[in-house]
Amino acid sequence: MKITYFDDSSKMSAFASLMVLNELRKKQYLLIAAATGGSPEGLYQMLEKRYQFDPELFEKLRVLKLDEWGGIPMSDPGSCHSYLNEKVLKPLHVSSDRYLAFDSAAPDPAEECRRIQEEIDHTGPIDCCILGLGKNGHIGFNEPASILQSDCHVAKLSAETIDHPLVQAMSQTPSFGMTVGMKGIMQSKKILLLITGSGKQEAIKKLMEKEISTQLPASFLWLHGDVECLIDKTSC
Ligand code: F6R
Repeated sequence: MKITYFDDSSKMSAFASLMVLNELRKKQYLLIAAATGGSPEGLYQMLEKRYQFDPELFEKLRVLKLDEWGGIPMSDPGSCHSYLNEKVLKPLHVSSDRYLAFDSAAPDPAEECRRIQEEIDHTGPIDCCILGLGKNGHIGFNEPASILQSDCHVAKLSAETIDHPLVQAMSQTPSFGMTVGMKGIMQSKKILLLITGSGKQEAIKKLMEKEISTQLPASFLWLHGDVECLIDKTSC
């Protein structure tokens, strides 16, 4: 894992956007897995700016929603879908056939996770996985636990995760999450771990100890050959 520190989140986002654009120039049919939340927001804004000058570059881009809150309508303003729709899909004109996503209101969430896993197995691997770091060290909704799940799965959300600002904006609290598992993340060709935001000092400190633990899912990224960890110094 290559670690780079930035003075602020906008410098971090600018650097991240150069990396994603570089991947996109090499492969227009790029499959990105997109996290939601505060950390990748600046990156998505920069990609939107680039789109204004170079829409052709994004014509074949494929987007996989990394995770979703379960038991809420997709239309909820706090859903990962609403977030991606507003910040990625609409601005970059990603058509529905180039978007792969868990349905937050699927009648059978476990079956929905199997569906997404099959799609990843069929059309993947993920080319560029965009991750944030949870305050408890989660990536996607792979939460600290005695074991981690390899495939897409229904995730029991920790109290810390449910405390996320996106959830505070929801009309009802999600009862579970659905997420790409550790295999989908670790088989990604390239991973960008973006770290900004408050309350992450402890998780960053533990991550830098380079000890691999299921209690800190992000620590598994040390085992991957191409991870760029971009850290906004103000979050340390
Ligand atoms: C959300 C996701 C989560 C977040 C993490 C950090 O789609 O995958 O793992 O990346 O909770 O959230 P922020 O960036 O809001 O601090």
